[in-house]
Formats: sequence, C-alpha cells, structure tokens
Amino acid sequence: MAAADADSTVIVRDIDALRRRIGAWRRDHQSVALVPTMGALHNGHLTLMARAQQMADRVVATIFVNPKQFGPREDLAAYPRQESTDFQMLAAAGVHLLFAPDVATMYPKGYATSVRVAGLSTMLDGAHRRGHFDGVTTVVTKLLLQAGPNIALFGEKDYQQLTIIKRLAVDLNIPVDIIGVPTVREGDGLAMSSRNAYLTAAERARAPALYRAITAAAADIAAGGDITAALAVAREKILQAGFSKIDYVDARHEETLARLKSIREPGRILAAAHMGNARLIDNVAIQRV
Ligand code: PAJ
Repeated sequence: MAAADADSTVIVRDIDALRRRIGAWRRDHQSVALVPTMGALHNGHLTLMARAQQMADRVVATIFVNPKQFGPREDLAAYPRQESTDFQMLAAAGVHLLFAPDVATMYPKGYATSVRVAGLSTMLDGAHRRGHFDGVTTVVTKLLLQAGPNIALFGEKDYQQLTIIKRLAVDLNIPVDIIGVPTVREGDGLAMSSRNAYLTAAERARAPALYRAITAAAADIAAGGDITAALAVAREKILQAGFSKIDYVDARHEETLARLKSIREPGRILAAAHMGNARLIDNVAIQRV
C-alpha cells in the first residue's frame, strides 16, 4: 500500500471528485480496492480495510446508508449514524479516501434504474426482506461503476450478499475481483454487526447461542449426521436461548445457495433470527472431514 499520513485521508461527496482522484491513481498504475459500508464501523469493517491494504496500493471506503435496501417497516431511520467517529477510524486505519455521498447524489430526481439478480435474491434473507437485495445490488453496481476499483471486498458475515455480488460482477462484466473476507467475531462468538447495538445487555449475553447452534450443527453434519435432524436441533437451541422468532436455519450449497442434498457438496449453514429489537444473521462453513 502507498504510505498514507494519518491526516491524509480525504473525504469526497460527489461522483466527479471520486472519479478524478481514483482516475489519477489508476493512470499512475496504482491498484485500487473498494470497501463499501453503511458506516457505524466496527472491527469487522476495519478487518476489510486491513485486508484491502494488503491487496492494493490505494483503499477507498464508502459510507452510504442506502435507503433502497431497507423495507418500509425496517430500521432506516434508527440505523446508527456516526460519520465523524467513522472518519477518525478510517484515518487511523490509513484508508486513503472516503466516499460519503448523500441520498440525492446517489438517487437524484428521476432516478429509475434497479439491478436485480434473479433467484439468489429471493431466497433466504430475500424471502424475509422483500426487495432488500435489489437495493443492495443497485447501490453496489453504482459504487463499482463510480469508483472503478481493481478489487472490492465484502464480508462473509453477509454470505448471501457476497454470493449475489459475485454473480452480478460476472453477469454485468464489471472488471473487478470480488473478494470475500471471513467473519470477525466477538470473544464469545457473536458476529460483529452494527445492529448488535440494538441488543440490551441481557439479550447481548444470550445472542452468541445463534453462532454456537449453527457451529454445532455444522460439526454434526460434517461428521455424517442427518442434515434435517441437525438443523432441527439447532432451531430448538436458538429458540431456547431466547430468540423470539427464527426466519431460517438452513444448509445450502456454498456457491449456488441451493438446498444441500448431501455432505459431499461444499456446504454452509445460514441463519437469521430475532432477539428483542435486533434481527441477527450468521453463517458457518460445513468443514468436511
Ligand atoms: P454493512 O453492514 O455496513 O457492511 C459493510 C461490509 O462489512 C459488508 O461487506 C459486510 O459483510 C462486512 N461486515 C460486516 N460485519 C462483518 C463482520 N463481523 N466480519 C466481516 N465482515 C463484516 O453490507 C452492507 O453494509 C451493505 O449492504 C453494503 C454492501 C454497503 C451495500 O449498501
């Protein structure tokens, strides 16, 4: 990575300025990594930035709380916003450029285009959050076209999102490598998430049960256990831990996200469940032995 002074992180809010700066780097044969976020940064996000720094000369982070990926009854208004703290974190991490556009820049009057990845977007989280992934793929396509990076990094924490974004980059011939980064967890196993802030202290103490339950199910399946039975046990444990509702706990093929038929296929367990005001998602690989 090219050296960045702590105070050299630049924030831009308009697309022309973003293109000018990245264009200069690209003409100078410097590689560029893009890390899109919605802000409220935590160590999961910072791990993506660190990985980006290892892989490219220049790191561009984006912060945009994208209204198109929130449903009408979801948490758009409540979503945590802390741009100045986020900016300090990105500067300390040596990120070169922060692109933080406002809604009117991304979706000006008359905006009408949507990007949709069929099939992958309507299963699992897409079945419970209708239109969510269309919002994600629309904004990510725009960010990739605005920034024109060599690589873009996304967390395995949002495994379905990562899978969908890989698909859209291939399908639309966007010349970018999509890189997946393993989930960063708290000491007790809970996947780091900006939405963990919605948990009360008592809920926070119970929340790691989601990770523990799917990890145990993955180990059971890897050891030859029945897939349906292992998933049923996981669901039971999640409800016993105090989650009020399970949206899904399922074993899927790691690339197609089709239902896992046999443990000879590479698999992943994906889950979403509600605890208090938070909807938590997590996933783990089924490590074949
Ligand atoms: P956001 O939830 O802010 O996440 C930004 C990126 O950080 C995503 O790629 C996400 O998978 C990754 N991430 C979040 N928590 C992580 C963790 N614990 N470990 C590893 N990576 C983690 O995901 C989005 O924003 C949006 O949908 C976005 C892609 C920016 C489009 O609006």
